[in-house]
This record gives sequence, C-alpha cells and structure tokens, in this order.
Amino acid sequence: MKLTKILLAGCVAMSFGIAHAAEDAPADHKQWMKDLGSAMGQIRKGVDVEQNAAKMVAVMPEVKAFWAKRTSDVAVKTCDDSANGAKQAAAAAKAGDQPGVTAGMKLVGAGCKGCHDVHREKISDTEYKIK
Ligand code: HEC
Repeated sequence: MKLTKILLAGCVAMSFGIAHAAEDAPADHKQWMKDLGSAMGQIRKGVDVEQNAAKMVAVMPEVKAFWAKRTSDVAVKTCDDSANGAKQAAAAAKAGDQPGVTAGMKLVGAGCKGCHDVHREKISDTEYKIK
C-alpha cells in the first residue's frame, strides 16, 4: 500500500515534469516565426524573392538574440545558417541567379529544421511551444 502511494506520487511528479518541459513562446517569438514562415511560403512560390529573403535576414538576428540568452549552441548556429542562407538567396535573387536562390534557400531551410528538430515542440496542429 505504502509502496503504491510512493509510486503514484512519483508518476504524478514525472508527468508534471513533462508538462513543464515545453514552454509557451513569447508573443515576439511567435511573430518572428510567423514572419519567417510567410516569407518562406512566398519564396517557394517565387513571389518577391529578394524582399522576402531580405526580411529573413532582418528577422534572424532577433531570433538569435533571444536564443543567445538560453545558451543553446544549436539555436545560435541554426540562426546563423538561416541568416547566411537568406543573405545568399537575396543577393542571388537580385542578380537573377535562380540556382543561387535555390542553394541559399537550402541553407535557410536547414537552419529552420535544425532548430525545430531540437527546440520546437508540437502541441497540436495549430500550436507549438519551445523546448
Ligand atoms: C533558433 C531556433 C529556430 C529557428 C532558427 C527557426 N525556428 Fe521556427 N520555431 C522555433 C520554435 C521554438 C517554435 C515554436 C514556438 C513559436 O511558435 O514561437 C517555432 C515555430 C515556428 C512556426 C510556427 C509558428 C506558428 O505558431 O504558426 C513557423 C511557421 C516557423 N517556426 C517557421 C520557421 C522558419 C521558416 C524558419 C527558418 C527561416 C524558422 N522557423 C527558424 C524555433 C526556431
């Protein structure tokens, strides 16, 4: 009986631990991600590629500054990768160099994915948190 209680208490403590592992993203962070997501979507469709890539270049330092305070090497590196890729893509778009845009966007996408794999927790189809 006593053991059951201890085990039960342990389970409750553990499930609380898991529930608290994912953290609500601040409004700013959500907005940056929405901006990056919509820029990405437009670039995929070939809409205003240079402007959208430049927007990514502008947003990435904000994301990086946020994550730099959390001491995650992955996050900081993936921000740099995405920012560098977006810079390449913007320059290539300006020069009308389509393979250059594709190459730059590949780097951007690797940065997004690299961070999401480690730090984004999917709660539902419409909700994500930070982990
Ligand atoms: C340094 C880590 C990091 C990088 C880099 C990153 N993301 Fe995110 N992203 C997150 C986290 C954490 C969440 C979940 C919290 C949130 O929504 O703010 C998220 C959520 C999102 C969402 C869902 C937002 C919503 O609620 O609709 C989109 C879309 C998104 N990211 C797009 C991108 C794109 C596109 C890139 C690359 C250009 C990118 N992200 C780069 C960490 C990152």
